[in-house]
Amino acid sequence: MVPRVSIFLCYIPVFISAATITLDSIEIYKTHDWLPSKPTVYFLCKGENKTILPDVKEKHLLYTFKGEESWQPLTELQDKKCKRCGFYEEDTIKSDDAFDEWEFCASDFTKSDGKYIHLKDTEFNATFSCPECVPFGNASGHSSTSENSSGGMHWALIVFISAVVSTVFIAGLVTALKFWQKRKRQQEQARFLKLFEEGDDIEDEFGIGPLGSEV
Ligand SMILES: *[C@@H]1O[C@H](CO)[C@@H](O)[C@H](O)[C@H]1NC(C)=O
Ligand SMILES: *[C@@H]1O[C@H](CO)[C@@H](O)[C@H](O)[C@H]1NC(C)=O
Repeated sequence: MVPRVSIFLCYIPVFISAATITLDSIEIYKTHDWLPSKPTVYFLCKGENKTILPDVKEKHLLYTFKGEESWQPLTELQDKKCKRCGFYEEDTIKSDDAFDEWEFCASDFTKSDGKYIHLKDTEFNATFSCPECVPFGNASGHSSTSENSSGGMHWALIVFISAVVSTVFIAGLVTALKFWQKRKRQQEQARFLKLFEEGDDIEDEFGIGPLGSEV
């Protein structure tokens, strides 16, 4: 029992692999500070450090990045664990304002080019890049953003049910095979015994035959 558990534990790190997320482009549609200063826009995932986007200062201007900038990558995402992330603007007086805050998941990267566009109507349009995330995105099918949390559950349930069904099927197959082998052995034994009896009969006949001719 113990060795099996340790093998299982050894395999876990293989599945929990982190993929790096870079920002491809961003365009902000508004700023939140009512003072006419240039905004300081940053990206933040809960429990991590701020990533300030030093260039993003103007509204309605598309900023594109190579993914190699000093502040890249933005963050890392794991296969089955989303992060609560957002774009924010530093505020000089009150607390910082959010452009948007959302559950950022590796499975959002469903397109084969590894891009994911996060759009908030009046706030911003951002394109993220994560080529390593694509297998995770494809694995969970075509679930849309709103279905993502239940999509994972759904997938786990399918795997579980298929595992149970195939276990039952294999167990049934093995039982049937064993039963068939037993039947076959019994039949062979019966046939052998019958052959033996018939052999005796023939021998008897032969025994009687020569004896009769001798008389
Ligand atoms: C956050 O920043 C601090 C200081 O700059 C650094 O020591 C720490 O490792 C950073 N944490 C992460 C998760 O990058
Ligand atoms: C958002 O940005 C991407 C990349 O620049 C662009 O392809 C897409 O059309 C934009 N969407 C909107 C609604 O502006």
